[in-house]
Amino acid sequence: MRVFQSPLELKNELRSLDASIGFVPTMGALHNGHISLIKKAKEQNEIVVVSIFVNPTQFLKGEDLDKYPRREQADRRVCELAGVDYLFYPNADDIYGKDEVTVCAPNVRGYILEGTSRPGHFSGVLTVVMKLLNIVNPKNAYFGKKDAQQLNLITLMVKQMFMDVNIVPVDTMRDANGLALSSRNEYLTPIEKEEALKIPLSLKKATNMVMSGIYDVKRIKEEMTNILLPNEISYVAIVSREFEPLEKVIPGNSIVLVEAVVGSTRLLDNIWL
Ligand code: PAF
Repeated sequence: MRVFQSPLELKNELRSLDASIGFVPTMGALHNGHISLIKKAKEQNEIVVVSIFVNPTQFLKGEDLDKYPRREQADRRVCELAGVDYLFYPNADDIYGKDEVTVCAPNVRGYILEGTSRPGHFSGVLTVVMKLLNIVNPKNAYFGKKDAQQLNLITLMVKQMFMDVNIVPVDTMRDANGLALSSRNEYLTPIEKEEALKIPLSLKKATNMVMSGIYDVKRIKEEMTNILLPNEISYVAIVSREFEPLEKVIPGNSIVLVEAVVGSTRLLDNIWL
């Protein structure tokens, strides 16, 4: 595995290869969810590039930028063992300059749900993803379905900016108890981890209701809320795959999303129905 810090050096190196590139952008603290993205990239491409960059512009003031887990040596080892060909490990000065050109998240889709609790977050995500895609120029780029709104916005950006990359969604990985894997799960105490299981439980309830023929969004959201309380709920929502609000679940074209704060940790999860 070769490790690059400089965007231009990596860009020149990758442009000199005559091979299909699969790209997995990450913020590190790699877990099995990331490994499943890398595996998929390896199956579908000749070369796999992983980036590790805790992107400051997608954290709002007062969020967990400083305490976000950073584990350089362990992450390098994970990448090596997973068969990654190139690891891109820039720091903030390598990626950002002064008086930055930025990508703005769309006014509606970028400011609902997670965009309401974290206004501006998605502009930071889109800006860094645009930069990373331009550096790596992959054929395929892999993103987890757990961050469904991020995945939707990146897919939209690539389409609307006529970018030449295929965005590949990858299923959410869960631990043995059903909790969606996330680098932020590390913040949870054992008691909070138990409490966090109410999130997948609420999604299971939604799935069961839909399977028994109940499609009414208001009713499903009420049942889910009852399960999630007394935790702080940022949102429980049911939208189409294009993130339009729904009154009735449309099987095959719906996503049920939850964001709840357990202890002081904001956790996201969703299920595609
Ligand atoms: O999902 C993430 O880890 C980040 O938002 C991403 C896509 C790597 C951009 O910083």
